Amino acid sequence: MKFFADTADTDEIRDLAATGLLDGVTTNPSLVSQTGRDFFDVLRDICSVVDGPVSAEVTATEYDGMLVEGRKLAKVADNIVIKVPLTWDGLKACKTLSGEGTGVNVTLCFAPVQALLAAKAGAMFISPFVGRLDDIGHEGMQLIEDIRTIYDNYPDLSTEILVASIRHPGHVAEAARIGADVCTCPPAVIKKLVAHPLTDKGLAAFLADWQKTGQNICSA
Ligand code: G3P
Repeated sequence: MKFFADTADTDEIRDLAATGLLDGVTTNPSLVSQTGRDFFDVLRDICSVVDGPVSAEVTATEYDGMLVEGRKLAKVADNIVIKVPLTWDGLKACKTLSGEGTGVNVTLCFAPVQALLAAKAGAMFISPFVGRLDDIGHEGMQLIEDIRTIYDNYPDLSTEILVASIRHPGHVAEAARIGADVCTCPPAVIKKLVAHPLTDKGLAAFLADWQKTGQNICSA
């Protein structure tokens, strides 16, 4: 499973990229707004650090406007993927931009049949939002399971399931168990994945015992 960072914070992205674990980045208008920076500067900075897909979302809501914005954003770098909302116009824009060779991420997916439409429109990624479904008392991960089943029923569909709106490590573990292709996570969630109290406890015990030996590896 691939890991994308769901952020527009370039310092966080650099830190994550240094681990070699980062396969891509997703942004959205809310995340860009939190940076207070120019959208195009942010995208250029991210693409200078990350080779994998970097999602940049259009803000137009009609087909023509989505195409104008999508084509302009796609010029920033070869690895830019255009994010469009899962609307009728979004699906049409997905079809056109995909046909031009631009990768498209169809976002704001909350139902399995929406995911089927996006795949048929040529999406490179479908972004189902698990956390926002959990927030309203639905089972977000059931959506991932349903989309996985549907896509596996039709091997001609090449769209990757990009699990979005991830809130905690449990979402990542479940997504991997189901066989999702990508998880896009806030940096804080990616950093939590490494943590386990028994790792910390075990390391503290090893270091305490090592100190009793009075040895130092570097000065040996
Ligand atoms: O980038 C889309 C998605 O990951 C947003 O998540 O936390 O705003 O529901 P959230």
